Amino acid sequence: MADARPQLQPAMGVRVIFLGPPGAGKGTQAARLAGHLRIPKISTGDMLREAIAAGSALGRVAGPLMEKGGLVPDELLNALIDERLRKPDAVRGYILDGFPRTLTQAEGFEHMKQGDSTNHVYVFNVEVPRDELLRRLSGRRWCPHCQSTYHVYNNPPKDDSLCDKDRTLLIQREDDKETAVARRLAEYDERTAPLIDYYRPRSRFHTVNGYRTPDAVFSELEGLVGKEP
Ligand code: AP5
Ligand code: MG
Repeated sequence: MADARPQLQPAMGVRVIFLGPPGAGKGTQAARLAGHLRIPKISTGDMLREAIAAGSALGRVAGPLMEKGGLVPDELLNALIDERLRKPDAVRGYILDGFPRTLTQAEGFEHMKQGDSTNHVYVFNVEVPRDELLRRLSGRRWCPHCQSTYHVYNNPPKDDSLCDKDRTLLIQREDDKETAVARRLAEYDERTAPLIDYYRPRSRFHTVNGYRTPDAVFSELEGLVGKEP
């Protein structure tokens, strides 16, 4: 007689995808949630900026595209994430910040070894009005050493224009300048926003109001990941 007991699922930890336009606060919240859950934050923007700084083959392709606010080709991103998710720390769960960003990437993710095609994955769609996005991006300052993010008004560093963590001089990201921001928002509307409908049927899809203080947004996210087993 067939065994009717439910199959035990292998433990895989919390898996999160952040969706949202540039400046929505994905990176800010992903860092907090990753620290809270003690799982890795996997940010494709950070990984690509590291590749550019290292002068790798990936960085040489990505650099000119990113500077203008365009997307980097899907096949490069899928290979990057597939490789990253194979690292042992991803078995305990992970927070994806900036991936997937196109339908091809979303489909690719489902076939990766540590990817996910199930209702287990949380998808947080962070919404912020467009004029606020522009304010956030134009005031953002960034540490090229540890990639910490600040804002000249909302989240200034303690000491003028130096990183709180390592005292590196903060700079403005090249793609936070006006023309690149316009292109990034257009790429978001055209290629990333369709993912909202793609993920909406998943049971752990949540639209989150990102137009609140970082603490208020985080406390909602913390509650959502703490609620379901
Ligand atoms: P990426 O680095 O991912 O940039 P992005 O998606 O444009 O997002 P941002 O980092 O600009 O915004 P965020 O939502 O993380 O906001 P943040 O927390 O910093 O990607 C850069 C580029 O890499 C892309 O354009 C593309 O070229 C390439 N790329 C990356 N992934 C790719 C992929 N999968 N496929 C293809 N290409 C890819 O917050 C913004 C500012 O607001 C900060 O100053 C912050 O302090 C402030 N802030 C945050 N939260 C709040 C709040 N609640 N209230 C007030 N201020 C806040
Ligand atoms: Mg970011």
